[in-house]
Amino acid sequence: MRVCRTITEARTALEPHRDGTIGLVPTMGALHAGHLSLIDAARSECSTVVMSLFVNPAQFRNPGDLNGYPRDEPRDLAVAADAGVDLVFAPDASEMYPPGFQTWVEVTDLGAMLEGEHRPDHFRGVATVCLKLFNIVDPDVVYFGQKDAQQVAVLRQLIADLALELELRALPTVRDPDGLALSSRNVRLSAPGRELALALPRSLATRDPERARALLDGVGIDVDYVEIAPFDPPVLAAAVRVGSTRLIDNVSLEEDS
Ligand code: PAF
Repeated sequence: MRVCRTITEARTALEPHRDGTIGLVPTMGALHAGHLSLIDAARSECSTVVMSLFVNPAQFRNPGDLNGYPRDEPRDLAVAADAGVDLVFAPDASEMYPPGFQTWVEVTDLGAMLEGEHRPDHFRGVATVCLKLFNIVDPDVVYFGQKDAQQVAVLRQLIADLALELELRALPTVRDPDGLALSSRNVRLSAPGRELALALPRSLATRDPERARALLDGVGIDVDYVEIAPFDPPVLAAAVRVGSTRLIDNVSLEEDS
């Protein structure tokens, strides 16, 4: 597995692979089984699998959240190599945002609702870094988890609006056996916090915003929102805070279960 730190290095390394299909799995590291499901799909559908590993400062508003984001590059590289990734693009912040950087991409309506209301500029950071990664890697297919349903909706809109020639594949949320959606932030939950956090998937399983809100209020969790989101497919989406850990999750409103 090749690890590239610069844009030039990544473009040069990918040149010989351009006659096949290139799949890109964008990540911020702290890899878990959710990421592995994306890498597995890319592995089975593409001839070359690229994973980006970059904790994107532009999508964090709170410096504490950015600095506290779990980072373990040696472990992530070992996991990626094991999973069959061909090339990891792991740039520094100065490679992605050199001095004088001033171009931002904004998906105005989809990026402003729900998460966007609570995390202003979050999707501007996500859209900008993803467009830059798409330009660098020039993939045929990009892989994202449906757990971040709004991120998927924002990026689909960006791809359509800017006529990018790539396909976005959204893969189902991977959950622990107790129902909690896998997230790099779960490691920050204490044992009682994790127990409390289980109210999130349980509340969403009602597929009803009022019942979900009552269930979350009943256990004393701080709710940022629990709402039906007009994505494709529509989902019941929620963001809650368990202590200092913010968790998001959603369920499709088109599934039977
Ligand atoms: O979902 C994530 O991990 C990030 O938002 C992404 C897509 C890698 C962009 O930084």
